This record gives sequence, C-alpha cells and structure tokens, in this order.
Amino acid sequence: MKVSLNYKNVLKFVSEEEIKNNEKATLVALDTLLNKKGAGSDFLGWIEYAKNYDKEEFARIKKAAAKIHANSEVLVVIGIGGSYLGAKAVIEALKPYFCQKKDLEVIFVGNNLSSTYVAELLAYVKNKDFSINVISKSGTTTEPAIAFRLFKELLIEKYGIAAKERIFATTDKAKGALRELSTTEGYETFVVPDDIGGRYSWFTAVGLLPICASGIDIDELMKGANDAYNDCKNTPYLENSSLLYSSIRNLLYQKKKCIEVLVNFEPKLSYISEWWKQLYGESEGKDHKGLFPASLVYSTDLHSMGQYIQDGMRIMFETILNIQNPETDFTLKSEENNLDGLNFLSGVNFDSVAKKAMQGTILAHVDGGVPNLVLEMEKMDAYHLGYLLYFFMFSCGISGYMLGVNPFNQPGVENYKKNMFALLGKPGYEELRKKLLERL
Ligand code: PA5
Repeated sequence: MKVSLNYKNVLKFVSEEEIKNNEKATLVALDTLLNKKGAGSDFLGWIEYAKNYDKEEFARIKKAAAKIHANSEVLVVIGIGGSYLGAKAVIEALKPYFCQKKDLEVIFVGNNLSSTYVAELLAYVKNKDFSINVISKSGTTTEPAIAFRLFKELLIEKYGIAAKERIFATTDKAKGALRELSTTEGYETFVVPDDIGGRYSWFTAVGLLPICASGIDIDELMKGANDAYNDCKNTPYLENSSLLYSSIRNLLYQKKKCIEVLVNFEPKLSYISEWWKQLYGESEGKDHKGLFPASLVYSTDLHSMGQYIQDGMRIMFETILNIQNPETDFTLKSEENNLDGLNFLSGVNFDSVAKKAMQGTILAHVDGGVPNLVLEMEKMDAYHLGYLLYFFMFSCGISGYMLGVNPFNQPGVENYKKNMFALLGKPGYEELRKKLLERL
C-alpha cells in the first residue's frame, strides 16, 4: 500500500498476539462498512466516490476554475468545518510556502467569528479582482452565511450585475437557503452529495473547486483516492495498513491510551492534521467514548509540548506521518573556522537532520511510555495526498465501528448552535433564551 504502517514501537504496549487476535473484530467492522450494515450507512456515498463521481460536474469544476484563474487575483472560499478543511489542507500541503506573485490566492473565510479577520480580508480584496466560492451543505450555517452576505455585497459594489458571474455556490442539490438564493440569483452551482457528510467531502465539489482553482491536479487526487479504496478494501489484514491502524489504535484505547497525537515534521501538513482532527473527533467522539485527536508539528513542538509528551500523564500515543522524500532538500556545507561547531554536519542533507530528530524522538518517547506508530509515505504530491486522505477516511469508518459508534453523524455539533441562536434572539428560540439568560 502507498501508506505503510510501522508498528514496531507499539509492541512494548500491545503484543503481536493481541494484534492478530483483533483481526476478527476488524474484519467485522470492515464488513459493516463495505456492506452498509451499520449505523449511518446512508452516509457512505464517499466509499466508491473516487470511481463513481459525476464526470460532467468534474469537467464543469475544471471550467469554473479556469474562469476564476482568468479573471481573478483572489478566490474567496466561504465555508466552515467539513466545508473548508479538506480544501485548505490540500492546498497548504501542495502549494509552495511562499506564494509566487502571479499565483491565484485562495483565501478562506466564514470559518471563524473574528470581526478583525473579516474586516481585514474585506479591505484586502477591495481593490483586487476576486471571485467567491460559497460552500455549505445545509445552506444555513451562520458563520459562512454572514461572510457570504458581506463578500457578496462587496462584489456587487465592484462589479454590479456582473457580480453573479463571479459567484460559485456548492450546496445541497435541492434544499436549503443557499440553494434557493443561487436559483433566484442565477449563480453557477455544484452539488454536495446527499450521502456524503462534510468531513468526508473533500474530493467532491466541496474541495475540488478551490483545489483546482489553486492549480493542483485534481485527476491525480482522485486517482490516488481510488487506488486507496482498492487497496484498503482488498489487502489482507496483516498487510493492510488501514485495517492495522484501526485495529491498533482501538487496542491502545482499550489500554487507556485516550489521546492520539498526529505528528508531522513538515509544517505544510498542519492543516492535514486539522482535517484529520475533525474527521476523527466528529466521527468517534460520541456516547462518551472516543480517542481525543490532537496534533503537533515537530521539531517545533518538541520545544514546547515535548516535555509533556516525554514525561506527563501516560494517556497518549503518537502517530507520526513520515514523508520519506521531501519536495526539496539541500546539503549542508563545511565552514573554515567552524566557530559554531557544526562541521560534523558538512555533506549531510538538511532533511536527514529531520529524520534523525524523528528517530531520536521516537526512541525517547517510547522509553518514556508513549506507544508510537509511523505512517510512511514515499512523497507528498497530489496522487499520494489523495491516497492518504482516503486512507484516513476508510480507517476512520472501520475504527468508529470497532468502537461501537456511528462514525457518520455529528449530533453534538448542534448544541452550541441552538444556544447561539437563542442568545442572538433568533425567532423561535424564545424559551431557550430565557433559560440561558438565567444561567449567565
Ligand atoms: O462535518 C460536518 O458535517 C460539519 O463540520 C459541517 O461540515 C459544518 O458544520 C458545515 O456545515 P455546512 O456545510 O452545512 O455549512
């Protein structure tokens, strides 16, 4: 498989025998997932999506992306949660750290309630050519709805009637306020499939339009995802890194390791971790169960959280995402006077310093009582990233069923929304408002 799992450093905590004995439970979960036997089975449209996706819409996405490229300096992407994290993760992972001037800038908004962020972005795009991709499956989520109202207003101010040519809406095929608005105003629309939840939707139009507009090869992403589907589905348990990852993280959870820390050594991949946290947190954190998904970037965080990982409460394990070959590398040189004492590194590649830091960290943390898993991938490009994201989704479905929860709903997300509406005075929430105000 293109993502392989090294679990040598969990064997002090979970035995080979326990892993072998967990095969049956893992295969039951696999069968539940693939044969739609479990809770949430009406949200499994993502399983075969990389093969079955709507090819006509895919072509329209490419056309819309080309149009945005031709007439815009900035694409403002409005969405929250599953409606933005996948695209943000892919773009950050695959684009250069420092933007080339001629590149289209893809900027995300509507994913927080910072008045400062919104005001500064409005000012930033005011004198630039820009387009909007507003993304909301329900079409009613407050954060993106407010942002859309503000950016649409600015767009109309700039372009008048032609503004609607610069608005692309991704939403439910038939219902919701955004669908109605789009039909009334005549925006080009893309569909969030009914049977795919937000955190599983990065490879639908939800993620693909912003990703394609940023210049990333979406054919390769889909190919990677489809290959991952075939591999995850068909590879036998002891060679299947997806099944083993699901199995071992559940065994660790049973041994009271309640936090999984996803670690990478490449800051570009921070948003992959953010997307992963949503995926696992929303899928597994229910019925008072579930591993708490956390993330760190090393070596940066070894100088902050490293102390806790090494020596704090023994409640976590680490999963390191190791990209074997960096996009770019270079050799360190020797210096005549060697005043900094670094000549022992001359001729050494910069990335191999990172690899040694990784190995040293694994050994230290395992000695400190932190089980360690390593997910290895040869390189990070569109194909491998598509593979990786699918790998995580598949593993999450299996893992959620092993835990005994519905991995495809998120009932807990609604509670804060109701309270916020009540406190804002939204009609229909009067009773709740009274109760909440008494408590404040
Ligand atoms: O995973 C989820 O379902 C959520 O994070 C949603 O994606 C998020 O709440 C945004 O919802 P919507 O797309 O309906 O605006």
